[in-house]
Amino acid sequence: MQTKLIITADGSHSLFIEELDEHYHSVHGAIQESNHVFIGAGLNKIITGNLGLKSGKATAINILEIGLGTGLNAFLTFMESAKLLVNIEYTAIEAYPVNIDLVRQLNYVEQLDSMAYTDVFNLIHSSEWEKPLALSKHFTLFKINKKLEETIFKTKFDLIYFDAFGPRVQPEMWGEEIFTKLFHVIAPGGCLVSYCAKGEVKRTLKRVGFSVETLQGPPGKREMIRASKVTNLQ
Ligand SMILES: C[S@@+](CC[C@H](N)C(=O)[O-])C[C@H]1O[C@@H](n2cnc3c(N)ncnc32)[C@H](O)[C@@H]1O
Repeated sequence: MQTKLIITADGSHSLFIEELDEHYHSVHGAIQESNHVFIGAGLNKIITGNLGLKSGKATAINILEIGLGTGLNAFLTFMESAKLLVNIEYTAIEAYPVNIDLVRQLNYVEQLDSMAYTDVFNLIHSSEWEKPLALSKHFTLFKINKKLEETIFKTKFDLIYFDAFGPRVQPEMWGEEIFTKLFHVIAPGGCLVSYCAKGEVKRTLKRVGFSVETLQGPPGKREMIRASKVTNLQ
């Protein structure tokens, strides 16, 4: 499929798939969206224990990303782990890896003023599949080159970044089967965050057992979702 590099409103790149008429990120700002949805509403919430995952500040967490794509979420999370001194095991699934020529053109390192981490961004893409790689003492990456539907998980995750293409393009990724599977791999007290806040998606998440919050979305998008696995032990 024809994938094009585009510049979003905050100056950061994203990708656009012409045949699907679908972007990898919000056109209102890729970095802005990732920071708001995945770091702000997901990682920061889990780390500060506000979701009741652990008492006090969490010091080690397991994250699962659905759709590694450009590596933006992984890179932002890596940088947060260095700032917050939290140990993160980051598993990323990607069925259709981005072409390396496109990866080389992405401007995230420059936009985030993180030239010191250029090698880390490159390694997120060039590292071997299914081989854990410690990118720092706080961040270990494990990549899986499979469809989510075909992946069997051996660990539980405290946080899921659900960053598949939207329901218009990939309805099968937003149905009961996938969300049931994800409910079972989330640790008690953990959560899933997503940029999509469609009513049908919220209803499906609730049906499979999640407790769903509708939160303010990033600039340009009204809402987003955080779905938690609430336990009686909290
Ligand atoms: C909206 S993009 C977001 C990617 C990424 N999080 C980023 O920041 O660039 C969705 C990603 O999900 C991947 N994907 C699509 N279907 C998938 C599937 N069935 N299993 C795993 N990944 C899938 C796509 O290839 C794409 O990289």
